[in-house]
Amino acid sequence: MNFAVLASGNGTNLQAIIKALKSKQIKASLKVVLSDKAEAFALERARKAAVPVVMHVDPKGFATREAFDQALLDILKKEEIDFVVLAGFMRILSPLFIEAYRHKILNIHPSLLPAFKGGHAIKDAYNFGVKVTGVTVHFVDEQVDHGPIIAQTPVEIGANDTFDMLVEKVHAAEHQLYPYAISLFLRGRIKAQRAAD
Ligand code: GRF
Repeated sequence: MNFAVLASGNGTNLQAIIKALKSKQIKASLKVVLSDKAEAFALERARKAAVPVVMHVDPKGFATREAFDQALLDILKKEEIDFVVLAGFMRILSPLFIEAYRHKILNIHPSLLPAFKGGHAIKDAYNFGVKVTGVTVHFVDEQVDHGPIIAQTPVEIGANDTFDMLVEKVHAAEHQLYPYAISLFLRGRIKAQRAAD
């Protein structure tokens, strides 16, 4: 199975995936890493790991979201990509893209979904004062931070934890959970059903 990673930022989850490929926890071929941001450090990490296709695709070059997504799909199709892993990809994918890879797009979100959707999930959980938050890997559907859940890890928020401590704990949990969830998916251990609303 060939897969692509889409990332917009630092790429620490990509790095965890690369490590899991080396150790054979993930038995698949990472052929493509794409980013919507030229400065994404994820691109550097991919180049260093000798991923065959590493590209910045600039959304500004396209009139619509669909046209941008079609450009991504063209690359994925050309490289015979079987499934897609979102690792800090900060754009919402259009139904066109979702349909092309239904139940074959995985995402990681830094909360226990359906709690704390959105771009500030760790901060929101911390400020709300919950005692447990966590990490979710799910299939991507047409709604944001929604879709059948593959795996979750709880992360406790201690009474004396600072926000930075929580960020560190959540990221550490992500780097464990994502390779594990991808390996479950690859072993055919996940059966996707429609997620509850
Ligand atoms: C992670 O917290 C992930 O859950 C969220 O975006 C962040 C990406 O971090 N979707 P990195 O680029 O993998 O370091």
